Amino acid sequence: MQINYNEKNRVFKIDTEHTSYCIGIVDEENFIGHIYYGRKLTEDNLVYLLRTMEAPFVPSQNNRERLSFLDTFPMEYTGHGLGDYREGTLMVRTMGGHTGVSLSYVSHRIYDGKEPLTGLPATFGQQETCKTLEITCEDRVLNLQVILSYSIFAGSDAIARSVKVVNQAAEAVYLTKVLSACIDMDNEDYEMITLHGSWARERTIQTRSVMKGKQGVSSVRGESSHQEHPFMAWKSKNTTEENGDIYAMHFVYSGNFMAQVEVSQFGSMRALMGIHPQDFCWKLEPGDSFQAPEVICVYSAEGIGGMTRTFHDLYRSHLIRGEYRNKKRPILINNWEATYFDFDTEKLLAIAKEASRRGIEMLVMDDGWFGYRNDDNTSLGDWQVNEDKLKGGLKYLVDEVNKLGMKFGIWLEPEMVSPDSDLYRAHPDWAFAIPGRKGSLARNQYVLDLTRQEVRDHIYNMIASVLRSANIEYVKWDMNRQLSDMGSYGLPADRQGELFHRQVLAVYELQDRMTKEFPHLLLENCSGGGARFDPGMLYYGPQIWCSDDTDAVERLSIQAGTAMIYPLSTMGAHVSDCPNHTLGRTTPFETRGYVALAGTFGYELDVTKITEEEQNMIPDQVAMYHKYNDLVREGDYYRIAHYAENHYYDCYEVVAKDKSEALVTYIQVLNRPSFHSRRIRIPGLDKNASYVIENAQEWPEIVQVEYHGDTLQYAGINIPPLKGDFQGRLLHLVKKQ
Ligand code: DGJ
Repeated sequence: MQINYNEKNRVFKIDTEHTSYCIGIVDEENFIGHIYYGRKLTEDNLVYLLRTMEAPFVPSQNNRERLSFLDTFPMEYTGHGLGDYREGTLMVRTMGGHTGVSLSYVSHRIYDGKEPLTGLPATFGQQETCKTLEITCEDRVLNLQVILSYSIFAGSDAIARSVKVVNQAAEAVYLTKVLSACIDMDNEDYEMITLHGSWARERTIQTRSVMKGKQGVSSVRGESSHQEHPFMAWKSKNTTEENGDIYAMHFVYSGNFMAQVEVSQFGSMRALMGIHPQDFCWKLEPGDSFQAPEVICVYSAEGIGGMTRTFHDLYRSHLIRGEYRNKKRPILINNWEATYFDFDTEKLLAIAKEASRRGIEMLVMDDGWFGYRNDDNTSLGDWQVNEDKLKGGLKYLVDEVNKLGMKFGIWLEPEMVSPDSDLYRAHPDWAFAIPGRKGSLARNQYVLDLTRQEVRDHIYNMIASVLRSANIEYVKWDMNRQLSDMGSYGLPADRQGELFHRQVLAVYELQDRMTKEFPHLLLENCSGGGARFDPGMLYYGPQIWCSDDTDAVERLSIQAGTAMIYPLSTMGAHVSDCPNHTLGRTTPFETRGYVALAGTFGYELDVTKITEEEQNMIPDQVAMYHKYNDLVREGDYYRIAHYAENHYYDCYEVVAKDKSEALVTYIQVLNRPSFHSRRIRIPGLDKNASYVIENAQEWPEIVQVEYHGDTLQYAGINIPPLKGDFQGRLLHLVKKQ
């Protein structure tokens, strides 16, 4: 890892383990151009790639075509309104009403380590493991300073980028758009990968050709959302899982975003990512600064899988924090699908008793324990225990659960308020609302205006006193509606455009406060399933509920899309009851276990009501989790076959970093008549070693137990057809000494 500035050529070269990223300063006006991003290069003499010797030339040589220069030059970070008609990264509105901005290089700083981004989640690194380049640029007319940051990490191919804007003028300026990253490059007939979805169908992989004009994904819902994900990648058409070029950007943020690729009239391509400018207007007073969130950029020449593993390693080492980051998580049982709102101490303890007998390690009490909440119409905001349900109180319940040898966890939804709550009756102005308009309800709830300090403090004190009142070791932090009616009684008219971003900052502040006061707490974020599964939330808690859809087959697609970027250790995944509550589909209990094994693993059912046969399978699943979780959590993940593409089967693998073992999960979704066995190639192993199928006894169909690493990778093995639909198998390969 290295960052250099070549003064003669005026070129910055950022070298990660296998990639180079080059930036050049050109012309008397110090324009900052993006020169190159891709495989690692030896030299930095690449200014020719900026094409400044071709028409329209640079303004100092041909100012009559200044506009053409600005509209074609590959900008590292753009201005606005002066001739670059492509979508830009920065827009302002001055007190005079003007919107033009133009940035020129002023100075730079290269240092070991990485500074935190105030108030925001971000990757981190120490002086020995990380280097940062800061390029300071300026608009001299506006007296606006913009600092572009690039951090790299030892052994990684990721680049973390962010942008800070400082107002050095004597009067305020409105920032109406501050994106976090831009990459201008030639379009080489790329394909774009994005993740789209809906409730119960999050992060479905979508691939499309990059066309002339603009295409992308976004959220203006106040959260990263079920619908689209703050991620995009673009790859060559022939890039596969294991080979070929791919570039990606992922946003470390949990609110509105835009991610866009634009192909210009000349065939150049601009990729952008940042806070969505819709409804964004930030007033920057003289001397103040605005910090835009971080974007992680990855380039890999080793296909989609290479990109995936770069993100996984980065997030595991430089984003996720806390004591659980490299630790096995307790196997939990959550009562949501078991009881919904209909529970009391007795029912919960019955579930806990049966669960602990079978080896489950934590009971999580979901929605419905507070106020008068017997359905989803009431009591959000009244975070006092409902002692009609929890007779003897919360501490009694927790102590009883602890006596069974289990931990206890609780559900919270701190950002919301029900109109039917004491909190709302006392403070109707604490919810977002536009004066004179009837508020828009969703799930019969409003969103609390956490941009106000008094609201944040009140909510924090309520939830903290619950957490202090008993031995609570886990929190599921939920958010069950998206934002609308953005009006705050706490901010003046010219700051209402700050609300979306301020609300996200407020959530970050609350989670920061909570995890600091309760450092041993395991925090699982959640939003109506997986609507706020993003790197921002991962900074505060090491796992996120993946989806309300717990059907094992649907989960194959949801988890494949999620695992394209996120380590398996982050994906909340449970074995739930059948027929599945979302789909009505029935899958074997074993298969549900195999699929949940690719995540944090837990249960979401009434263990007292399932069949005895199923109850008896739990100890085996618990043992399976303990046997494989270190490997699943820490290993290298490979997608082998994707059910959403082939419609019949799914297969993925996790290989230990030292290649001593691998776990292959094979799910035959649909059986087919009159077919031979299926050839599966198993990548990532030591090609000079032999492996045995350690769990061959679980595979009556397997005929050969020992294989060479290169045989497994290049020739593959044959998986015989399994009897019936929705059948699963694990293949545990162990290297022979
Ligand atoms: C949505 C979550 O995803 C569910 O697991 C459950 O906690 C409900 N909210 C409770 O309201």
